[in-house]
Amino acid sequence: MKTFIARCLLLLALVCSCSAADSIWDLCNKNSNVSSSSQISKNIDSILATLVSKTPSQGFVTTTSSSYNKKDNVYGLAQCRGDISKTDCTTCIQDAAKKIREVCPNQSDARILYDFCFLRYSQENFIGKLDTGAGLIYYNVANVTETDPKTFDNELGKLFDKIRSEAVLPESQGLGKGKTKLTPFVTLNGLVQCTRDLSALDCAQCFATAVQSFMGACHNKKGCRVLYSSCYVRYEFYPFYFPLDPAKTGTSVGTISSVRL
Ligand SMILES: *[C@@H]1O[C@H](CO)[C@@H](O)[C@H](O)[C@H]1NC(C)=O
Ligand SMILES: *[C@@H]1O[C@H](CO)[C@@H](O)[C@H](O)[C@H]1NC(C)=O
Ligand SMILES: *[C@@H]1O[C@H](CO)[C@@H](O)[C@H](O)[C@H]1NC(C)=O
Repeated sequence: MKTFIARCLLLLALVCSCSAADSIWDLCNKNSNVSSSSQISKNIDSILATLVSKTPSQGFVTTTSSSYNKKDNVYGLAQCRGDISKTDCTTCIQDAAKKIREVCPNQSDARILYDFCFLRYSQENFIGKLDTGAGLIYYNVANVTETDPKTFDNELGKLFDKIRSEAVLPESQGLGKGKTKLTPFVTLNGLVQCTRDLSALDCAQCFATAVQSFMGACHNKKGCRVLYSSCYVRYEFYPFYFPLDPAKTGTSVGTISSVRL
């Protein structure tokens, strides 16, 4: 399992270095090879069409192909981040559906993540199941210098406790976001998002796993994103979630590094 993920991510790194507006993460299970003329491959195409047409109206959809042969069934899920517009959602899901077939043309188990959306399909029914088996961290290499590390940890912890508890409320649909002032001039912005098929308990568990990673690779860093199939957590020193704060846009992003989980 670990080796195939490592290979996928290595391949991903090679693929990603040559084009610009790409996904931030994708995984293609090379143990799920299917021929492009198979019924399964046709089912993937039909599932992708459903996800593209149905996701924007509700921001989330799950679907299953109905095959004569049950073993050809494919399960699909797509979700847009809860704070983005319907237009951005449409564009993101369209890109994701196209890109995933390029990245993973001959496999039945694939997932792709953009900042604005997530799309996944598999012959295994993964819907409603917590998955933190593979992940990716992006972090800003710059250290926090505006406060000491202890104060920063403290403020980060408080902000994330608040937005995590907001995200697991039924009406939040897995989304929590908020900000806090670190100094009169520096604002810490945070966002958490679970896939909407998860129970509140599994969502909370996913956030707990992800936030733990802040303490590792992201410790005292000026920005961090921890990405799993079931949830996504992020903080930055600049505004990145909607509605954007118009007075504060245009802050530089700095150098971003990544680590596999
Ligand atoms: C699946 O196909 C890829 C090439 O498309 C190949 O590298 C890989 O070894 C195959 N996996 C299995 C389990 O046969
Ligand atoms: C996928 O399979 C087709 C034939 O079915 C083959 O031509 C193509 O090279 C394969 N792509 C990859 C990336 O393995
Ligand atoms: C950040 O701080 C760590 C630990 O003090 C140090 O090793 C690292 O070089 C610093 N990174 C930058 C970009 O200054």
